[in-house]
Amino acid sequence: MIQAAVLGYGTVGSGVVEVIYDNKEVIKERVGDDIEVKYILDLRDFPGDKYESKVVHDFNVILEDPEVSIVCETMGGTKPAYDFTKSALLKGKSVCTSNKELVAAHGPELLKIAKENNCSYLFEASVGGGIPIIRPMNTALAPENIQKIKGILNGTTNYILTKMAKEGASFEEVLKEAQDKGYAERNPEADVEGHDAGRKIAILTSLMTGKTVSFDDVYTEGITKITTKDFEYAKAMNRSIKLLAVSERANDGISVMVSPCMIGAEHALSGVNDVFNAVYVTGNMVGDLMFYGKGAGKLATASAVVSDVMECAKTLGSNVAFVWNDEKLTLKDLATCTRKFFVRVAAADKEKALACFKNVEEIKVYDDEFAFVSEEIKEADFANYKKEIGNVISAIRVED
Ligand code: HSE
Repeated sequence: MIQAAVLGYGTVGSGVVEVIYDNKEVIKERVGDDIEVKYILDLRDFPGDKYESKVVHDFNVILEDPEVSIVCETMGGTKPAYDFTKSALLKGKSVCTSNKELVAAHGPELLKIAKENNCSYLFEASVGGGIPIIRPMNTALAPENIQKIKGILNGTTNYILTKMAKEGASFEEVLKEAQDKGYAERNPEADVEGHDAGRKIAILTSLMTGKTVSFDDVYTEGITKITTKDFEYAKAMNRSIKLLAVSERANDGISVMVSPCMIGAEHALSGVNDVFNAVYVTGNMVGDLMFYGKGAGKLATASAVVSDVMECAKTLGSNVAFVWNDEKLTLKDLATCTRKFFVRVAAADKEKALACFKNVEEIKVYDDEFAFVSEEIKEADFANYKKEIGNVISAIRVED
């Protein structure tokens, strides 16, 4: 029998225990052994809970128990998750996590410690919830030079944008619903400002390059400024508005950003709605692939953690290797990237806008506004034009 412990009995942690026991038989068959949860660490007690007797409050009980070989870290945040993870790995206990904040901040260090101690640090659930993407990047896509990753990587914001587009619902109202469904981070700012997606694309880009992409270097723009009027324009253009996380390899470097983007209805990402996430990967040999599934929520995310637990169980005493070292990857300056922009200004500012943008495609929805899609221009030029015009009502990147 293989003994595991779960750190943090919140949405994901309780889901992990549920998946392990509800799918016990199939897990046993595929691992070749029983997996038991010996301890659940949480500050709280859970009177009446089915697994109440497993709850402990002291991490040392888990750390000092030689029977525990796998630890699921579903606490979130970096404190005390970093210390707990490090101590477990130093004891040779494998750690499986859903904690993208910790992976993005300390991934290479924890992977190194795991390797030195013949155990593993696995993080399938840290990106895309239930979507298998980390393992495919590390195995099936290993022969590829990945050229581009374009993802919808945050379930909360995709849920909000979908409801705003379909129902004209207000941002605040839908955010509350997403929180009630257990999709949102403890601090919803991480979702709506694009930081959560930023950490996830930093992790994917690190796996794509083998070097470390620092989250602090990733340009992030959230969805708080998107209004229902923007969706009306998007509809008129047969486009949707999605929060995209994009990592792109060019001759002069790799650019990484998170930003609301207008994408055409024919793009596969356009139909990714509600809490679903998708990661669209372009390899230089395999071409385009899309990984799709629930990007947040209890059981979907827990299933990904348990897939890691099973891999650790099958490889006890050895290390599942990743190529991700601590050398920092210097990203291409976003200001030098070129793209089209969707822009709305007051009708009175039309001439000012046309003095900057030379080749625009006008989109007519409201008579008191002048709205258009620009020619392909550099981000730096766009920022200057925006300043020159002064009162830009809305500006959204266009991705084809
Ligand atoms: N808050 C995250 C999301 C959870 O909404 O996608 C999964 O990482």
